[in-house]
Amino acid sequence: MPPVARTAARLAEALGSPGADGGVGLVPTMGALHDGHLALVRRARRECGVVVASLFVNPTQFGAGEDFERYPRDEERDLRLFGENGVDVVYAPTMEEVYPEGPAVSIAASELARGLCGAVRPGHFDGVATVVARLFAHCAPDRAYFGEKDYQQLKVVERLASGLGVGIVGVPTVREADGLALSSRNAYLDPERRRVAPALHAALRAAAERLGPDSEPAALCRQGERALRDAGFDRVDYFEIRDSETLAPAARWRPGLRVLAAAWLGSTRLIDNVPADRPAAASG
Ligand code: PAF
Repeated sequence: MPPVARTAARLAEALGSPGADGGVGLVPTMGALHDGHLALVRRARRECGVVVASLFVNPTQFGAGEDFERYPRDEERDLRLFGENGVDVVYAPTMEEVYPEGPAVSIAASELARGLCGAVRPGHFDGVATVVARLFAHCAPDRAYFGEKDYQQLKVVERLASGLGVGIVGVPTVREADGLALSSRNAYLDPERRRVAPALHAALRAAAERLGPDSEPAALCRQGERALRDAGFDRVDYFEIRDSETLAPAARWRPGLRVLAAAWLGSTRLIDNVPADRPAAASG
């Protein structure tokens, strides 16, 4: 098992003198690890001299009535998996270390946080920005690794990091064989809902493949929403085609778009996204 630091001071001790060859890579997580997290760790291991993984279920990014209390926690298993995948030090801070003033947000995420998940989870990205800024302050990483599955989070964090001298590395989504994006929340799905869940990725891909100079993004989004409802999703928060950098809505096809969706199966909310890089005619 890698050493575990519970305070920033202990983490600094464990990391030793700054300027390690290859730099310090940080993989922020809330635990409940799956292969998607481990892909981030393995990428950091290849690219950095020292790999720190953080383990902290951040209360400020959960809204009232969300799953903070029931979020899966198994620190022993997470530490073992971090160790097996080459993490040098685990930073698992106490609540007081991250929020000495009590859990409240101190950073407002940029305008990138406004639509999509930000529209249905008010304050969520302010909580993410606040905890990520504190993790950066405590770990002083050269690079930090985030999954593309949480695409809006990736863009919010890129913006946050641009003035802090931390390089952000986005890592492609890891999927089950049937296309379902790996997520700690997949554990909430009962077998019947688990069978329906891959329809999210299928609908996103269908929209991405049809998107082209002769198609209308809004119509593809309506079709995508309908496909999710027909497949058995109970509610669709959004199904949208956006610019992959600014996240601005796209009225018509152009290069660099992304299709993103969030939808509910019972009380489980799933999100996913895919690039839509090629015009439909070229996608065969
Ligand atoms: O993606 C996550 O697991 C969390 O949002 C993060 C980045 C660890 C911040 O709590």
